[in-house]
Amino acid sequence: MRLERARLPNHADAAFREEVFAGLASPQKRIPCCWLYDARGSQLFEEITRLEEYYPTRAEAEILSRHAGEIAGFCGERGLLFEYGAGSALKSEILIGAYPSLRLYLPIDIAGDMLEQTAMRIGERFPKLDIRPIIADFNQEFELPAGLPPGPRAAFFPGSTIGNLNLRESVAFLRRLRRHVDGRGNAVIGVDLKKRLMTLLNAYDDREGVTAAFNLNLLERINRELDGAFPIDRFAHEARWNAEESAVEMHLVSLDSRIVEVAGHRFRFAAGETIHTESSRKYDVAAFAGLAALGGWRVAKIWRDEKGRFAEIGLEASS
Ligand code: AVI
Repeated sequence: MRLERARLPNHADAAFREEVFAGLASPQKRIPCCWLYDARGSQLFEEITRLEEYYPTRAEAEILSRHAGEIAGFCGERGLLFEYGAGSALKSEILIGAYPSLRLYLPIDIAGDMLEQTAMRIGERFPKLDIRPIIADFNQEFELPAGLPPGPRAAFFPGSTIGNLNLRESVAFLRRLRRHVDGRGNAVIGVDLKKRLMTLLNAYDDREGVTAAFNLNLLERINRELDGAFPIDRFAHEARWNAEESAVEMHLVSLDSRIVEVAGHRFRFAAGETIHTESSRKYDVAAFAGLAALGGWRVAKIWRDEKGRFAEIGLEASS
C-alpha cells in the first residue's frame, strides 16, 4: 500500500512552542485545541467517546448503522471517498460496509502511524477495496495525489470535528472539500446539534473526570515538552456555554494568582483567570446551511439519530 505525503508536519515542535507562547501572552489566554492530542490526549479522547455523558459518538454510530446504504448511495456509484481526519476510521468502516461499489477509499490524517494501521485494518476487512492513505493536515491547504481514477467524488467528515473549527477555518475547509471533489461531488458532514444546556455541559464535564484529565493533560504536555512549571493541581477544568458563538468551551482555570514559567518565559495569572483550550460549536440545520453556503455547498439530505441529537448532513456543491 502506498502512503502519500501531501504536507508534512515538519515543524510541529516549533509550532507548539510558538502557539503556546503567543496564546499565553494574549489578553484571553488561549491554546489551539489541536495540541490536546498528544499520545496521552488521544488515548483520553478515545475514553471520552465511551462515556455515558458523551452522546455524539454513539448518536453518530446509530445514524451510520441505520442509514449507511442511503449515505453510500448519496456518495455515488463506483465513487471515490475522501475521509478527512480519518483517525481509526471506525465510522467509515460502517459506511464502507454498506458501499460495495466503492472504487477507492482515501483516508487523510496528519498522524502517519495511525493512518497506516487504519489502512491495514480496513484493507484486511475489505480485501477487494483499493485504499490510498494520504498524510496531510486537513486544516491546511493541500493537494490530492495526481492520477486518481475517474468516478464521483465524495468528502466524508464525521465526528462533529467541524464544530472545533472557527468560522474562518470552517469556510476554508468547506471550500477545500469542494475543490477536492472537483466542484461536482457531494460531502457528508457529522454535525452536533443544539440541545438542552445541561446535556451539552455534562458531555464536556463528565462525572468520572475523564474530560478534565484530557484538558489538564495540555498543561502536563507543556511541562514535559516545553520545560513548563504549571502546578497541575492548582488549575481546574471548566466547561462553559458561549451563547454568542453557540459553543461549549473548555477552559483551564487558575485557582490562584501566580506566575508560571515556561522555558524561561514568565506568564502572569490572576486568580480565576482561564486558558481557553477548545470550542465545540453546536448548530441547528439552518445555521449549518448558512455556513455550508459560505463554503460553496447546499444542504441536500439530513439524517438524524432517533433522539435528534446529531445529524449527518449531505451536501451538494452549489453552482
Ligand atoms: C473531536 N471533537 C469533535 C470533540 C468535541 O466534542 O468537540 C473533542 C472533545 N473535547 C472534549 N470532549 C470531546
